[in-house]
Amino acid sequence: MSISLPTPRTTVPAPVVPDVVVPVPTPLPAADGTRAHLPLLRGPGVYPAQRDTWLLADVLVRELLDSPLPRTRVLELCAGAGALSLVAAGVPGTEVTAVDVSRRALFSSWANAGRLGRRVRLHRGDLAAPVVGKQYDLVVSNPPYVPTADASLPTHGAMRAFDGGLDGRTLVDRVIDEAPRVLAPGGCLLLVHSAINGVDTTLARLAGHGLDADVAARCEHPFGPVFTARAQMLEQRGLIEPGQRTEELVVVRARRAG
Ligand SMILES: C[S@@+](CC[C@H](N)C(=O)[O-])C[C@H]1O[C@@H](n2cnc3c(N)ncnc32)[C@H](O)[C@@H]1O
Repeated sequence: MSISLPTPRTTVPAPVVPDVVVPVPTPLPAADGTRAHLPLLRGPGVYPAQRDTWLLADVLVRELLDSPLPRTRVLELCAGAGALSLVAAGVPGTEVTAVDVSRRALFSSWANAGRLGRRVRLHRGDLAAPVVGKQYDLVVSNPPYVPTADASLPTHGAMRAFDGGLDGRTLVDRVIDEAPRVLAPGGCLLLVHSAINGVDTTLARLAGHGLDADVAARCEHPFGPVFTARAQMLEQRGLIEPGQRTEELVVVRARRAG
């Protein structure tokens, strides 16, 4: 569930949100059973956690709890209001870092981590740029992936959470290219996008980086408002079938050898 902050004035962050570590009240809440019901605050224009978020969250929790390899250091790219980071931070033993380019998103993550008593290190920046040189056991990302009318991406505003360039792959491909540089040996990338963006393209690109990739979860989902508004354009460009108003959401898992 997502709710908007009541008074926009209080949701507009100071000009710069510094990197911050939210203090941890103890004990940490259990991850399982609470993950799909995190009551998240979010500022205006911040992405509301939704079906793609929670599909990815399910895989994330399974990976954190079931992996025989250590999954301690977790990095979220494109964190939004922090849903996935907060889920990861609810699993005992994790150290979670979250990156987003939007100040409002980071402020929402910061507020949610504080309210829920979960510790998340926050960085503002472009994908993995703020954490270059660091290593993570797990990288998780729900990047913007809705195809747009032209190739340019917004530099501010609510559509920065959705717009993914002509084929929706601009940020998806960048996550695939940048994640391996911060993945520890044996580490794992979890990435969600729409099948409209091309699942085979994702798997091939990951393989090109030497990662062993597969589809970890998928589900059919009715178009949300942004896809619905662009349905005609998507039809004209042959990205969807005529009359198609559902998409398949796909979580891809890619493992680095080690
Ligand atoms: C689809 S939302 C996902 C939010 C959240 N992870 C979730 O699943 O609910 C995508 C997020 O990516 C952020 N974003 C867009 N471009 C970015 C970039 N170049 N670097 C970091 N974050 C970016 C947006 O601000 C937005 O919060």
